[in-house]
Amino acid sequence: TLPRPFIARLPVPQVLVPRRVGNTDHYHIRQTRAVQEIIPGHQTEIWGYNGTFPGPTIVSKRNRRTVVTHTNELPVPTVVHLHGGHTPPHSDGFPTDYLTSDESIQAMRNGSSAAQMMADPKADVRHLSRAYTYPMEQPAATLWYHDHRMDFTGASVYRGLAGFHLLRDEQEMALPLPSGSRDVPLMICDRAFASDGALKYPSVDSHMRKPGVEDASLPGVMGDVILVNGACWPLMEVQTARYRFRVLNACNSRILHLALDSPRTTPPIVQIGSDAGLLAAPVSHQELVIAPSQRFEIVLDFSAYHPGDEITLLNTAGAGSTGVVMRFRVTGKVTDTSSIPDKLADVEPIPASKVQRHRVFDFHRADERGWWINNEFFAPTSSIADVPREAIEKWTFVSDYHHPVHVHLVSFQVVARNGGPPGPYDAGWKDTVFVNGAERVDVVARFHGEAGRYIMHCHNLEHEDMSMMATFKLI
Ligand code: C2O
Ligand code: CU
Repeated sequence: TLPRPFIARLPVPQVLVPRRVGNTDHYHIRQTRAVQEIIPGHQTEIWGYNGTFPGPTIVSKRNRRTVVTHTNELPVPTVVHLHGGHTPPHSDGFPTDYLTSDESIQAMRNGSSAAQMMADPKADVRHLSRAYTYPMEQPAATLWYHDHRMDFTGASVYRGLAGFHLLRDEQEMALPLPSGSRDVPLMICDRAFASDGALKYPSVDSHMRKPGVEDASLPGVMGDVILVNGACWPLMEVQTARYRFRVLNACNSRILHLALDSPRTTPPIVQIGSDAGLLAAPVSHQELVIAPSQRFEIVLDFSAYHPGDEITLLNTAGAGSTGVVMRFRVTGKVTDTSSIPDKLADVEPIPASKVQRHRVFDFHRADERGWWINNEFFAPTSSIADVPREAIEKWTFVSDYHHPVHVHLVSFQVVARNGGPPGPYDAGWKDTVFVNGAERVDVVARFHGEAGRYIMHCHNLEHEDMSMMATFKLI
């Protein structure tokens, strides 16, 4: 039986305090096993950054470098990726740039990953800890960090290796948006649990040596429990005020359609930001479609409610236990001085006339065992696109099935869907675009960054692990 919804209080992940040296913020994170009470009365083993799920939140300031040193104490190798970060290649978390523990090196000697590592001459084989350097020369945004290990990202993230990394800047901090305890990250994900409380991921090999999931989960792994910040269908007490929520879909493959259910006139969901930063101007929605790894920053206004009112956040794409996400209970009346300005940030459109090159990437099912981009399985060493540094390119994603397509290193703008205008959820700078079945989506980006290899992939983690990923190079 599933736990009762709206009992657990919404947890908010702890914010780490950096060690500041000059213009750099230093952090140290240990990746460890831990037990956490997710289902009341049960102890669930998780893998967590500093032993928590979600991991701790890091808050960076634009143009202050952030260095996060990770130590791996898990039984498997790991890889850390800062999702949405404009990160140089050595710190971007290429899927074979492993961070190993002694235990994981032993385990890999017997497993298939060892062969994979040896096949990639650039793969770093032995690293017990690793410093990831993030320049943070990009606008304020809600980023997140998560595991990115070759073939096993789905299984590792499912166990808990995910956390928020927020980036702030002067312009954003000067806005009258809700702040402090009214600026709350919401990591939404679905999980399944065994009767003893253990996380239930359908790996073909529970030791995570041989990749792959059971046949029934080839399209993607879904669970029947919705967690927000690691708690089942939590309750959050709110006051009659505006709240800024940084919503992240951290599901392995579930697409969420978020909507509010309330006893009075339901206020709109006002979107103020997308994956890679604030929008130029707010956009109102009745429903928010959010695919895995996407972030939508929203403002919900509870000021017209009365103490005692309850507002439920629904997932209208789900049914039964997955049809609800969390609940807000209005507890106190306050005067609120926050507001949503009509102008949020400078988002300069990239003009079509500046596009130097157009490439098309076709995302489709290969066979029963995998997914392809342009008819190729993922190969770490072969590049699907050699992009000159600073080039402005248009990339078209064509799809047979719904895929959230994510490109590392750059933020892009969605310029067309099926040759027509972009969709209601495409505004602003993005790093992940949701491509529906039989759709063609055009995005433009300027490939600013350090030369080297990066990846793009489907962020349905099971598709990603089954090869829907490609290396591209900045040259
Ligand atoms: Cu969120 Cu390549 O990752
Ligand atoms: Cu996909």
